Amino acid sequence: MAGRLITVEGSEGAGKTTQLAFMRDYLEQHGLTVVVTREPGGTPLSEEIRHLLLSHRHDGMTLDAETLLMFAARAEHLEKVIRPALAAGSWVLCDRFTDATYAYQGGGRGVAQERIAVLENWVQGELRPDWILLFDLPVAVGLARAGKRGAADRFEREDREFFERVRATYLERAAQHPDRYRIIDAQRPVEVVRAEVERLLTDWLEHRE
Ligand code: TMP
Repeated sequence: MAGRLITVEGSEGAGKTTQLAFMRDYLEQHGLTVVVTREPGGTPLSEEIRHLLLSHRHDGMTLDAETLLMFAARAEHLEKVIRPALAAGSWVLCDRFTDATYAYQGGGRGVAQERIAVLENWVQGELRPDWILLFDLPVAVGLARAGKRGAADRFEREDREFFERVRATYLERAAQHPDRYRIIDAQRPVEVVRAEVERLLTDWLEHRE
């Protein structure tokens, strides 16, 4: 049976990494083979592209170059990791995916959604995540949490208005795709968030036919 693709999204400081570790453990305990990966990244080439994208060496990068590099990394990742894992029946947990391009390059930086859609169709064909978990929280709260982590990368250094647009775009997309999106209030204590994630996973496991 083909696996499932679950992507995890959210603004800075939303607690994705902690919840991903929990999700992996939970699904493995239920007998599934799980592949945890991330974007941009997940293959040697895609990790090198990630480095280019996040590094301040390329602060003046054009918006088209940034968007195309995101999809170049994604094309490699899909063919080398995600599609083979799904074909083998694994559940793939991906820390960010194309919704991040809509939110950051689209909402944050102003690339037209239609242009992103062209690249999405080109690189992914019909493949879309089965479920998208959006860890949502007020921008100020997320930035305060993320600020404690040390040196900021090329995205983390953006201003508050940028992250407000990112958040608004995620929420708009969640409203447009209620079948795939689940919004999780990430402002609550980590155990409360985890309990909600567990309920969702249990539900998905029961309905995996
Ligand atoms: P991370 O902080 O979740 O590891 O993600 C790295 C950064 O890359 C994060 O600031 C969001 C950004 N990003 C985009 O701008 N567009 C994308 O398509 C993806 C996948 C990530």
